[in-house]
Amino acid sequence: MTMKGLILAGGHGTRLRPLTFTGNKHMIPIANEPILFHGLRNLADAGIREVAIILGPIQEGIQEGVGDGSRFGLQVTYIHQGEPKGLAHAVLCARSFLGEDPFVMYLGDNLLQAGVLPFLAAYEREHPDAVVAATPVANPVQYGIVELDGDRIVSIEEKPAHPKSNLALIGVYLFTASIHPVIARLQPSRRGELEITEAIWNLLQTGARVHPLRLEGWWKDTGLPADLLDANEKVLDSLPEHRMRREGTISPRATVRGRVSIESGSVVEDGATIEGPAMLGKNVRIGAGSHVGPGSTLGDGVQLAGASVRRSILLEGARVEGPVRIADSLVGRRVLISARHPSPEEVTLVIGDAAQIRL
Ligand code: TTP
Repeated sequence: MTMKGLILAGGHGTRLRPLTFTGNKHMIPIANEPILFHGLRNLADAGIREVAIILGPIQEGIQEGVGDGSRFGLQVTYIHQGEPKGLAHAVLCARSFLGEDPFVMYLGDNLLQAGVLPFLAAYEREHPDAVVAATPVANPVQYGIVELDGDRIVSIEEKPAHPKSNLALIGVYLFTASIHPVIARLQPSRRGELEITEAIWNLLQTGARVHPLRLEGWWKDTGLPADLLDANEKVLDSLPEHRMRREGTISPRATVRGRVSIESGSVVEDGATIEGPAMLGKNVRIGAGSHVGPGSTLGDGVQLAGASVRRSILLEGARVEGPVRIADSLVGRRVLISARHPSPEEVTLVIGDAAQIRL
């Protein structure tokens, strides 16, 4: 038996799509690395080698970015789900890839600090039919909610109107082949999807054992722009030393404080300040007097000229010119923001690729 990985990168992405970010939402960078890559690394770090990625109707950039997976130490194959008919439907599409092997199913837009090792450890220790993980959330009506009595699952409900607990199932699961016959019998839910929560509940009804992990560390589902900014801040906070660079040219009259990564070709000019945690890609220019505050990720080629940016993600080639202060913002590729006059307050923007804004 080999433990396999199944990463879901299909879906509608309707919550991010209106923002006209080009490409697939799983390729939006967090700490300058596509969200999807964080999941791939988690699987690789747990010793998993064979991984399938589920692709949906919008796929731009995924196969180009991940390739055969060798640079992550993985063997990656691609499975076309077509229309997103639910998380359990994705498992159905992967049926021949998965065979009779156990597998970790990982929703490609999820990030979790603990990685997937705790799932494998629980599987080795308890030999259950499945492992799920739960964590308290503030808004349980938006999640698959699990009710626990010690280590026993009492109920599981998808987006319940009257939640029985505040414990949400996170988007990482470990299944054995016993899930397949259960999924084969599932009927579409009221929203027309084959629900994984219903599959887990039905699996329990067959007398199978589903082990609930209580998740340690943070977890983030990145469906909305605010989630992307939260996730970016959390990942920057916990980046390992080996991901930190100090390349490029930093003026002796610039100030760089805290954990800051700067890649080759970047320039930090006189009087510029950078406060970590922050990450700058390649060929970034932080012009004289500009400021980069904590929780910021600036993609390759981003330019700040006299501007200030805090707790924001600026994608490749974005430019901010003039005395504007940007905070809590998600700024698309090649966007141009220009300001002639100092803004009295911080400006928060969520803008898709190639927009031009004059403030
Ligand atoms: P969701 O966040 O549930 O849905 P979505 O990606 O369609 O987005 P939105 O709600 O904004 O429309 O999906 C969770 C993850 O699973 C996400 O990474 C996409 C993936 N997915 C599939 O691969 N196939 C599917 O059929 C569905 C529903 C989701």
